Amino acid sequence: MAQIATLGLYGLGTMGSALALNILDNGFGLHVANRTETVTSAFRAEAGALAARLTTHASLADMARAMAAPRAIILMVPAGAPVDDAIEELSAILEPGDAIIDAGNTDFHDTRRRTALVEGRGLTFIGMGVSGGEEGARNGPSIMVGGTRAAFEGIKPVIDSIAAKFDGSPCADHLGPDGAGHFVKTVHNGIEYADMQMLAEAYGLMRYGQGMAPAEIGARFEAWDKGVLKSYLVEITGKVLQAVDGETGKPAVDVILDRAGQKGTGRWTVIEALKMGQSASAIEAAVGARSWSSEKTSRVAGEPILSLPREAVDLPASDYESALLAGRIIAYAQGFRILATASADYDWGLDFARIAEIWRAGCIIRSALLDDISAAFRGDLPEGQLIFAPSFAGMLRDAVPALRRVVAAAVGAGHPVPALSAGLAWVETMGQGRGTTDLIQAQRDFFGMHGFERIGGEAGSHGPWWD
Ligand code: 6PG
Repeated sequence: MAQIATLGLYGLGTMGSALALNILDNGFGLHVANRTETVTSAFRAEAGALAARLTTHASLADMARAMAAPRAIILMVPAGAPVDDAIEELSAILEPGDAIIDAGNTDFHDTRRRTALVEGRGLTFIGMGVSGGEEGARNGPSIMVGGTRAAFEGIKPVIDSIAAKFDGSPCADHLGPDGAGHFVKTVHNGIEYADMQMLAEAYGLMRYGQGMAPAEIGARFEAWDKGVLKSYLVEITGKVLQAVDGETGKPAVDVILDRAGQKGTGRWTVIEALKMGQSASAIEAAVGARSWSSEKTSRVAGEPILSLPREAVDLPASDYESALLAGRIIAYAQGFRILATASADYDWGLDFARIAEIWRAGCIIRSALLDDISAAFRGDLPEGQLIFAPSFAGMLRDAVPALRRVVAAAVGAGHPVPALSAGLAWVETMGQGRGTTDLIQAQRDFFGMHGFERIGGEAGSHGPWWD
């Protein structure tokens, strides 16, 4: 696409309509359509004065036919079959130079497959991760683009305008070919799962271990949002915990069923990490904790059956703050390890410092740490490990003792802290030059003659087990 394309957007759900208003607000003309036409008319009314730049259509095909080439059509439909259906419909109408942009939370394997398919038909395909929820989509999300650089250049003016800004610079960029953008968004969500879970674990310990009221805990989060934990997730956690349910007058959090859903991105992060021989323990624990939460009836039955004693804990606020800082560093570090492995495996050439930069505003995991993370990736990084960067190693040296105290107190008193403890186990392992896998190797050799590498000696050695 040499010239700026005519823009179209298909799918006017919550995220789609918010993104469409954002595009209009930034002065661009926009064609829109939705599967059901009533939604399109409602959107026109919602657009108010912005409707002057809006052209609505009865269907995706009508919209594509009416748009002048080169066209760029953003799909804001649920991941999966709806994307394939839209691609098939558009392939019959679009011409070389036109682009299809999937802006949903798509599995990057699908994006790689669709890129090959669509580009094989002479069209351009872009897989674009968009983070920031409805508010971000409306006022400036973080945007992670995958596809060819030429394709990105064709939509860059629009993307830069609608994206969140950090110090005036757009939180959006071309990150790599085909599935790179969707993969980075997936890992973003994995980190999001871990951070949310750790915040919930700290809440649980203060609530059920220390007997604090939600509002009191919320005030702590509010205060922490002014310090090293400054972030969107800590900010909203503070607000949520201080909110009161209008109907009952109870803390809002107390009228919510403790059963969390998940749409797939956290799970994909873990699956891909394991497939690449990685382990992101904090993210795995967070995904697992959501699955456990869904077994609500079993847990309710289990409480009197297991009748596990639970005791009080007594930890200072500063320990929670430091433990959450260590946990957050671990979650980011594990996410970036997955990105590094995928970048090497798929030859994407990801720029980790740039990824950290475009996460500094607009997205759900935006936090004060991301500036330090981008600086660390631009500096000297021993073994390519974020936690070994001098700044992060220093922060962990100070914060890990508090994380140990929080995990130890929680475990000792019977309060589950799966993500904090799994994250701690990883960082302890990474700080231990000699671990216990010598014994695993001996066991493997004993039962399967798998052989081991002798220190300073040969691989394929065997032990004296059978002498
Ligand atoms: C974002 C969010 C967004 C969405 C997730 C939630 O970055 O804006 O991550 O993509 O809220 O899909 O995922 P779960 O429903 O799996 O929690």
